[in-house]
Amino acid sequence: MKVAVLGAAGGIGQALALLLKTQLPAGSKLSLYDIAPVTPGVAVDLSHIPTDVEVKGFAGEDPTAALVDADVVLMSAGVARKPGMDRSDLFNINAGIVRNLMEKVAVTCPKALVGIITNPVNTTVAIAAEVLKNAGVYDKNRLFGITTLDVIRSETFIAELKGVNVADVNINVIGGHSGVTILPLLSQVEGVSFTDEEVAALTKRIQNAGTEVVEAKAGGGSATLSMGQAACRFGLSLVRGLQGEANVVECAYVDGGSEHAEFFAQPVVLGKNGVEKVLPYGEISAFEANARDAMLDTLKGDIKLGVEFVK
Ligand SMILES: NC(=O)c1ccc[n+]([C@@H]2O[C@H](COP(=O)([O-])OP(=O)(O)OC[C@H]3O[C@@H](n4cnc5c(N)ncnc54)[C@H](O)[C@@H]3O)[C@@H](O)[C@H]2O)c1
Repeated sequence: MKVAVLGAAGGIGQALALLLKTQLPAGSKLSLYDIAPVTPGVAVDLSHIPTDVEVKGFAGEDPTAALVDADVVLMSAGVARKPGMDRSDLFNINAGIVRNLMEKVAVTCPKALVGIITNPVNTTVAIAAEVLKNAGVYDKNRLFGITTLDVIRSETFIAELKGVNVADVNINVIGGHSGVTILPLLSQVEGVSFTDEEVAALTKRIQNAGTEVVEAKAGGGSATLSMGQAACRFGLSLVRGLQGEANVVECAYVDGGSEHAEFFAQPVVLGKNGVEKVLPYGEISAFEANARDAMLDTLKGDIKLGVEFVK
């Protein structure tokens, strides 16, 4: 397996690269790319860790060398939030970065599974899809917005609140990846129950958890370490699916034929061609149905912005 990380010198990229270096299956290759000149050095640094994962680093304007033969591409290239910004404020800079990188992906590794971390994910995934469509290589089963951070935050906060073992908490988080479009399906979590007040407060905390980190870092960026962990979990799940493991399920923001929007985060089974099956997200509570319906204008607007940007 060859995994390429684009934006690899950044806060998320370095954390992700470290986790992949220590957790990818033996014999894998890890390819790091960033415009920052330090990137080959990040690769040399990681290469001293004794695992059977070969690391190479590439800097400069052209990601092509890093993308050759990539099976999985994880993209965190771009700028991150500062206090007072929401994810849509990042659009002006990150939209162009994602478009340019996806143009290279479309030419160099059009069959790779691509996971987009760069915000605003609701929009950047639509941009990536349009670029791939224009190049005639779009396969909806191979493109993912990585929403795993919303899932791991939900798992953590539920375990904290209810005093249960976090390893036993499983949850679907559906919709998108910003504000009200993040919808944790708390009503489905097995073994715990919540009062209406707890549901309202916990849903809000999960939706605003990114801002919690942005404010705590006070101008020093947004979530990087927890996002590195989330992206590693998702990237390893993509690899396990590619290698033929059965029943690999993750929530992700995909073009999965949802009745709600062109792209919608929902549970999917991952396999040798990316999305093997889109799973129904199951029964939801009245609170969740209201929240789902109320998010759709925002989500569809975010998607439209991406489509129009490329056009
Ligand atoms: N999906 C999520 O849940 C989630 C969570 C947190 C952050 N993010 C997003 O991830 C992105 C990265 O965050 P970060 O904290 O790592 O930021 P960062 O500033 O630490 O790192 C970004 C890296 O991207 C590089 N870069 C910029 N333009 C590039 C280009 N054209 N090609 C290659 N590399 C380029 C920069 O040199 C930098 O090293 C941001 O957009 C942030 O909003 C997403």
